[in-house]
Amino acid sequence: MPWRVALDCSTEQAELTLAALLDHPVQGVVEEQTAPGVTRLQIFFDARSAAEGFLSQLPDLAASIEQCAAVDEAASAQPDWPALPIGDRFFLVPSWRNDPAPPGRIRLPMPPGNAYGTGLHAPTQIMLRLMELHLRPGDAVLDLGTGSGILSAAAAGLGCSRVIACDTDPDAVRAACSYLAGNTSLFIGSVGSVRSVAVDLVAANIDAPTLHELAPEVRRVLRPGGRALLSGFSEQEASALQQSLAAAGLTVFDRLTQDEWAGLAIRRPEP
Ligand SMILES: C[S@@+](CC[C@H](N)C(=O)[O-])C[C@H]1O[C@@H](n2cnc3c(N)ncnc32)[C@H](O)[C@@H]1O
Repeated sequence: MPWRVALDCSTEQAELTLAALLDHPVQGVVEEQTAPGVTRLQIFFDARSAAEGFLSQLPDLAASIEQCAAVDEAASAQPDWPALPIGDRFFLVPSWRNDPAPPGRIRLPMPPGNAYGTGLHAPTQIMLRLMELHLRPGDAVLDLGTGSGILSAAAAGLGCSRVIACDTDPDAVRAACSYLAGNTSLFIGSVGSVRSVAVDLVAANIDAPTLHELAPEVRRVLRPGGRALLSGFSEQEASALQQSLAAAGLTVFDRLTQDEWAGLAIRRPEP
């Protein structure tokens, strides 16, 4: 039986709460205006732990959690998230919608929101924009920190020859496994398990401290002339990261930003 989180909040808080839902496995949502400026939200989860996990991100909201007989009928309609063009090549579509991609765009079904990477976060979108600019058809790709697998799906859509995807979080690898078609080599672990000079392109949307640490390994697995596309860090963090990358023998050749987030394209120089 589902678990219902109920709360009354301002319209603005309701918007923030619904935005925070994007990374959670929600069964349904009912949104009602109960008084001017007051919104009642009912959010349904399949497990108490999922409901509590969601609420732990919103400690300021007074909400109740209770088990209920069924998901409210009104909630069986999925949230009204639109399909979203990203960059010039991608079209991100929530799984319950059947919008076709506009001509010239690659349709990316949105992974379910139970692991990182629904595609709605700015760093993921920066990654997709960097990939459409710098991934070449035929590239062998390492999706480092695959999360839900969205960047592997994007790489396949752009015509890469093969994708190796890994993540240190077993739940992420399980989610990626069910999202991705069978032509990706997926494993639990990190770049240390990939053989040297194996790939043309590394895609990694991971926090700055981890990328500082992984920079020499990223260089090791790249073929000479190969590229790495990085995001997951702020514009301020990008400058310090560039120094670590330079120290590891990697050269920055492109940079994108979105909101307060940054992305870098780097190259392992030819000998
Ligand atoms: C922000 S999510 C990115 C998910 C997806 N690639 C995207 O772009 O939306 C970062 C992912 O990297 C994984 N991760 C963190 N450190 C890692 C490491 N050292 N090696 C491999 N994966 C790592 C996390 O478990 C998480 O799933």
